[in-house]
Amino acid sequence: MTHFDFPQGFLWGTATAAHQVEGNNVNNDNWLMEHLPGTIFVEPSGDACDHYHRYADDIALLAELGFNLYRFSIEWARVEPEDGAFSLAELDHYRRMLAACHEHHITPMVTFHHFTTPRWVVAQGGWEAAATPTKFARYCERATRHLGDLIGAACTINEVNIGVLLTSVGMLPSPEVLHQAPWWKAAAQALGIAPHDFAPFNFASSARSRDTIMEAHRRAVEAIKSVGNFPVGITLALQDVQAADGGEAQADRLRYDLNDSFLEAVRGDDFVGVQTYSRHRIGPNGSLPPEAGVERTEMGYEFWPEALETTIREAAAVAQIPIIVTENGLGSHDDTRRVEYIQRAVRGVANCLKDGIEGRGYTYWSALDNFEWTMGYRPTFGLIAVDRSTQQRSVKPSARLLGEIARANAIDF
Ligand code: BGC
Repeated sequence: MTHFDFPQGFLWGTATAAHQVEGNNVNNDNWLMEHLPGTIFVEPSGDACDHYHRYADDIALLAELGFNLYRFSIEWARVEPEDGAFSLAELDHYRRMLAACHEHHITPMVTFHHFTTPRWVVAQGGWEAAATPTKFARYCERATRHLGDLIGAACTINEVNIGVLLTSVGMLPSPEVLHQAPWWKAAAQALGIAPHDFAPFNFASSARSRDTIMEAHRRAVEAIKSVGNFPVGITLALQDVQAADGGEAQADRLRYDLNDSFLEAVRGDDFVGVQTYSRHRIGPNGSLPPEAGVERTEMGYEFWPEALETTIREAAAVAQIPIIVTENGLGSHDDTRRVEYIQRAVRGVANCLKDGIEGRGYTYWSALDNFEWTMGYRPTFGLIAVDRSTQQRSVKPSARLLGEIARANAIDF
């Protein structure tokens, strides 16, 4: 048996995102897409986990479990519901959330953009419009002025490469197919724009959207740093891209497009947020389905907790900046599988630290069973179950396990 002590001050966290837990984020693009006839969202987000009103109890529960980091996002569409009109009441709401974290000795990590975008931004061309980076930076600056003294660390944008990832692994139709879908056309019509000008974040895979998003990140870092004094980074959806026989060259290309080109672009940031869920195999003819005999998660991809160790090593080697695991987790109704997943993933983090990689934290996705985007409430990633008819929370054994690891700041394996 090996014992490993994590460095003092190592961050043990869990995460949520505004739209997935708050409920009734009616001013953003996602809410619009969820309510169109024929939409690819299996159900709307509705009240979600009502975290907007229940955050105080939820944060107290995370502290009681042993966590010292809580990563959550602030909703741009609440803070700036119309172009240039900022809501002090909503900023004060997020101030209260941050204060609740401090009250419980939890470091709050804030994400300024986690997939959802105000409708007015999307109506102006969204993530393909030249003006969006400036608008995003203005919002980040305004929010940091109001909240910055309470923020422990920040992520500008969550998973800037999500559209590229989903398209290249076949989890999303190509832009050509999307633009023809009746619900897509209806969304564009509702916003008064043409279908090819509808550019929401989670479906952004074009070169132009990549440039717009990375430019928004750079501008946001500058804006945040002009008023705030805390570490700022970005988060990336990293896949452990593996080559099957004959697929080496294709795998190298995909690894570069998906992971390394973005990791190169964030050199110079204070840290990079690694978000890894599984591996992806490539053969001579492209993407391969899950391997026969390998367990699958509720998301359809493989149960592969070792992917985290591989991507942390890759991120450290390419980005050459400190790493924080800002998401890693399992969608499963069987919590015993989550326990195993966490144990194996955290072991991978320990292996990286033993080799001298500068890893500063591990954040499990997600704190609560929440709204899993197009898949609705079916997949359950949470450490804490939510009965959405009563909003009652129930702690799962995996939450206790990770909380104990956090308290001990050590693992035995
Ligand atoms: C996202 C989360 C999502 C999770 C699980 C990540 O891509 O940041 O919002 O719920 O993966 O699929």
